[in-house]
Amino acid sequence: MTENKQIGKIKFIICEDKEEVAREAAKIFAKAIREKPDIILGLATGSTPIGLYKELICLKKEEGLDFSQVSSFNLDEYLGLSGDHPQSYRYFMNSNLFNHINIKKSNTHVPDGKAKDPKDSCQKYEEAIKQAGGIDLQLLGIGGNGHIAFNEPGSEPDSRTRVVDLTERTIKDNARFFEDESQVPKKAITMGIGTILETKKIVLLAAGSNKKDAVAKSIKGSINSDVPTSFLQNHPDCTFITDREAASSL
Ligand code: PGA
Repeated sequence: MTENKQIGKIKFIICEDKEEVAREAAKIFAKAIREKPDIILGLATGSTPIGLYKELICLKKEEGLDFSQVSSFNLDEYLGLSGDHPQSYRYFMNSNLFNHINIKKSNTHVPDGKAKDPKDSCQKYEEAIKQAGGIDLQLLGIGGNGHIAFNEPGSEPDSRTRVVDLTERTIKDNARFFEDESQVPKKAITMGIGTILETKKIVLLAAGSNKKDAVAKSIKGSINSDVPTSFLQNHPDCTFITDREAASSL
């Protein structure tokens, strides 16, 4: 059983556990894809979206949910990793979603971690989003420090797709995916907060007690770059789907 509430402009769907978070998110994504088959999705990596991606794969297999006209733009990529590196976000997306649904790979976009000219590549990424007509539905996770994508504390609300340094905390948080911490890249390409705030609808997923402080600060604290997710308070259509633990400090 979910509990719905609204704090300011932000809508909450509070679920029993992370499995229900995935199911509720899948309902929103499936409905949006059925209503607009050529939808532009903004997608995210990390451990939180995996359950949603599994649900979407099931809906494709069992109900024929059709991704043939869908396009996607991912939030971020490690600088220095090519798409066939197992820790790259392109590899993550292919193995956790794209390889299992009927999306055209040419319609899927992930920032190029191996770009010869990363600055130019960031600008082209922004242009490609604009040319596609903008992102209709954006999926987000939330970092323990309130980052969105790789927009770490200090990121400005008008920031665009760019190269950023990762904080010590993010490097430590992400070391679990690498052999050791020294292998975690120190830089990444990320969509900016300004880019994210321009998306038409946002769904942020958070599960577990390690997210409860970040969730509470995003909603209850003042809106400033110390907590990048606090800028979501200004978005006209943003829904947080959380489990009970992640919502326990609200
Ligand atoms: P996680 O990462 O889903 O692996 O917790 C979320 C994030 O850092 O944005």
